[in-house]
Amino acid sequence: MIHHINIQITDRERTREWYERVLGAEFLDRGPALNRRQLQLRLGTGEIHTSDTEDLVKVPRVHFAIEVEDFDSMLAHLDSQGVPYSRTGGGAFTGTGGDDPRQGTREDTGERYTYISDPDENLIELVYHAGGLENSSGEAVDLTHDTGNVRWTQIEGFVEAAYAEEQVTVS
Ligand SMILES: [Fe+2]
Repeated sequence: MIHHINIQITDRERTREWYERVLGAEFLDRGPALNRRQLQLRLGTGEIHTSDTEDLVKVPRVHFAIEVEDFDSMLAHLDSQGVPYSRTGGGAFTGTGGDDPRQGTREDTGERYTYISDPDENLIELVYHAGGLENSSGEAVDLTHDTGNVRWTQIEGFVEAAYAEEQVTVS
C-alpha cells in the first residue's frame, strides 16, 4: 500500500485549490508548524505531500495514477472545470489505447484511462477498471467505501495542542 507521493509545486494555495476542486482532495491539517513545512492532501486512501521549489525539475513520463469511481462522470467533471485531458499525456505516450485523442482503453485489462496535468505540470493518469478489484485468489473485493474519512491514525490531540502552543508563542 502506498502511503503518499511527494510532488514538486511552486504555489501551495494554487495546488490546494486545484486538487480540491478537480480531484476532490481533502486538506490535511497537521497543525501550524507542520503546515508551514509542507502541504498535505488526502486523495482516497493515499496522501499527496508537496515540496516547494522555484525550480521545477521536469522528468518526461513520470506520473502517478488515480483510480476513479466513475470514468464518464470524471471526464464530464474535467470538461466542466476546463481541465484538458489526453490519451497520450500531451505527447508523452503514443500508439495504444484506441483512436480517441482524449481517452483510451487498455487492451489487457479493459482499463479506461486519460492523462491530466496539475498547475505545475505534474502528470496524473486517471484510470478506471470496470471489472473491479480482485484479491490474489481472483475473488472480487470491494473498494474502500469510507471515502469521506479515510486517514491514518494520528496522535490524539497533537494538532489541537500545536495550535494552542502556536497562539502562546505568537502573543
Ligand atoms: Fe501509468
